[in-house]
Amino acid sequence: MTSQADLLPLLRAQQSGRSLARPFYTDADVFEADLALIWYREWIFAAAAAEVPRAGCYVTLQLGRYPVVIVRGADGEVRAFHNSCRHRGSRICSRPSGQAAKLVCPYHQWTYETDGRLLWARDMGPDFDPARHGLKPVHCAVAAGMVFICLAHDAPDFSEVKAAADRYSAPHRLDELKVAHRSSIVENGNWKLVLENNRECYHCAGSHPALCRTFNDDPDLVGADDSLSSPAGAAHVNRCEAAGLPSRYLIGGNEQWRLVRIPFVGAAVSYTMDGRAAAPLIPGMPFANAGSLLFFHYPNTWNHFLSDHVLNFRVLPISATETEVTTTWLVHRDAVEGRDYDLTRLTEVWTATNDEDRRVVEENQIGISSPAYEPGPYSVKQESGVIQFVDWYVRTLTAGVAGPSALAAE
Ligand code: FES
Ligand SMILES: [Fe+2]
Repeated sequence: MTSQADLLPLLRAQQSGRSLARPFYTDADVFEADLALIWYREWIFAAAAAEVPRAGCYVTLQLGRYPVVIVRGADGEVRAFHNSCRHRGSRICSRPSGQAAKLVCPYHQWTYETDGRLLWARDMGPDFDPARHGLKPVHCAVAAGMVFICLAHDAPDFSEVKAAADRYSAPHRLDELKVAHRSSIVENGNWKLVLENNRECYHCAGSHPALCRTFNDDPDLVGADDSLSSPAGAAHVNRCEAAGLPSRYLIGGNEQWRLVRIPFVGAAVSYTMDGRAAAPLIPGMPFANAGSLLFFHYPNTWNHFLSDHVLNFRVLPISATETEVTTTWLVHRDAVEGRDYDLTRLTEVWTATNDEDRRVVEENQIGISSPAYEPGPYSVKQESGVIQFVDWYVRTLTAGVAGPSALAAE
């Protein structure tokens, strides 16, 4: 048991460059603090905008204790609402996704417009004011074709990351892409172990035979401070920039997000078993050999933008030791499955990689749960991304528990 008062000494005892103390990965109260101080405050990636392509299309998700529905209105705007009826609170949309002209609560049929206004409620009497019973909005913004939501009353400024992500991803024509496939798995591990595992490729050679055919695990290439620190990375960035593809390493002021374009191994152009394209070239791309534009945003997403398809990854915490990871594959809307792309070929590398990552995360969780576990040292050469993530987490949680002045005083 770790109350928020106990959390501060635990955070202060944390040494940069070492894995976190066990309670951060196992304790239900720390998990509650993670939810309250990070997941309910920060911008969270919820869905690809391509998942709601037309008016009335909606997707639902469960973010901690909050059911949320994301719906595209008749005006084309994507909005997010608390998925809780203003009558007696029933969840309105229970399916993962769907399309509806109006959002109708199944309990007593209160009927909402797709912009959240309450349109109809039977027999509520002359004093009932529908205007005061619209769906409660959730902050919603689209960046790089990705719908982000924020549950906070006052959302953090999102303009810097939106401008950068939109600019870097523009050649990938996110508005013209469609969902080719989506998969969700549950990993029996804390959400931070999922993020930590994503932020290094120290484990790749030993775990990912399919991915390593095309993904270069040189840590300098992936970039920790400057995409020009590797000659191969620099040559790729310069070639892509010259062709109009924003590619240079760019990190947000608070280190919550990063963009960089990296090359594949050799002549590979996509995450396939043979390195050849999996789908037709996205029309905005100048050439196939553009590598992968990497975009992470803490706490819950990393993404790969390729010349032929785009991969979005969404992490959602379920409990201290369970995390859902959802992967969405996007291709150009004109591409026809079976004619222009084969779904197995498109998805097999990351389907295998996700399962391999699930296993290493689950083994990590089991080992950390041992009373014998003590925080160990990260490799500065190989795991600088993990150090960067863990430092961001400790800073963010400390500011949440004690207020931003706690950091300023250090
Ligand atoms: S709870 Fe939704 S209509 Fe009654
Ligand atoms: Fe991995």
